[in-house]
Amino acid sequence: MLRTRLTSAFHLRHPIVSAPMIQASDARLAAAVTAAGGLGLIGAAYGDRRWLARELKRAANTRVGCGFITWSLARDPGLLEMVLQHQPAAIFLSFGDPVRFADHVRACGIPLMCQISTLAQAHQAIDAGADVLVAQGNEAGGHSTGARSTFTLVPDVVDLATTRAPQTLVLAAGGVVDGRTLAAALALGADGALVGTRLWASTEAAVAPAAHARALAATGDDTLRTSVYDIVRDYPWPAPYTARVLRNDFLDQWQDHEYELRANITQARHTYQRATAHDDFDGAPIIAGEAVGQVNEVLPVATILERMASDAHTVLNGDRIRRG
Ligand SMILES: Cc1cc2nc3c(=O)[nH]c(=O)nc-3n(C[C@H](O)[C@H](O)[C@H](O)COP(=O)(O)O)c2cc1C
Repeated sequence: MLRTRLTSAFHLRHPIVSAPMIQASDARLAAAVTAAGGLGLIGAAYGDRRWLARELKRAANTRVGCGFITWSLARDPGLLEMVLQHQPAAIFLSFGDPVRFADHVRACGIPLMCQISTLAQAHQAIDAGADVLVAQGNEAGGHSTGARSTFTLVPDVVDLATTRAPQTLVLAAGGVVDGRTLAAALALGADGALVGTRLWASTEAAVAPAAHARALAATGDDTLRTSVYDIVRDYPWPAPYTARVLRNDFLDQWQDHEYELRANITQARHTYQRATAHDDFDGAPIIAGEAVGQVNEVLPVATILERMASDAHTVLNGDRIRRG
């Protein structure tokens, strides 16, 4: 058993929170993570109200939290109210100043987790009264400022929290896929980890089999940070956010050619939409972190969490893990 301030505060068996991953983190995945001893989060992403209402209903009677993209939530703040009515285990805010929503979340007695990727954002989240800081490195799957690596950001944020807000917990996000990397996060002073890519490749994640197959064959070298899909989808991500995804034909065509992409947006959007409708991942995006190379099998959530925790325990007790 790995006991940390996170497992005590949230009554968990493992110091693991699942990332709120667009589409993949529905009620089924979140509930499976909670049932396996971690804390599961539903990913509200860009705020599809009907989808979110359905998933909250499916998650009724399970202890799960909900993650929002902060700048997107600001376009429809009523979504937060909808989620708060379900007494979530936590509200998780990424990508934007949390101050506008923080007081309300905390006044409802719900723990507030804020994902940050720079020390300046960590200060902002502490000012807003975050209960948990999630320090996200550049290696993470999905959007990030990409400013820092997990390996250096986590200890910086741990030290900042110790000085400014000692009650605030810190999680590592970006690259935590197995026992070694979970042990590393704890060794850097984190109270646990936010895990995305590894749980995206789980039996319970809402992911097309063809996407899983591509990810299993990929290495970290096959990922890159890009704005191409945000341009095509017309998502107004503020600078300097970009998303880490797997390289594919669509990106080979448009990455570093964003000017031409904008000039040919109608045709590019058509290609993207057709690819997405047909699970064709030469055109549709697969979001994955650099640690995708360490993910070689789609496994049930319970197996993933048990292995991560027990291997981390072994590593922290001085034995190395070798899997052949
Ligand atoms: C498939 C996928 C989708 C993601 N979607 C979101 C999202 O909708 N909202 C969010 O806050 N973070 C999202 N993220 C980023 C995670 O919050 C987290 O930072 C990341 O998964 C941690 O790194 P890892 O993928 O190496 O575990 C996503 C990550 C992945 C892999």
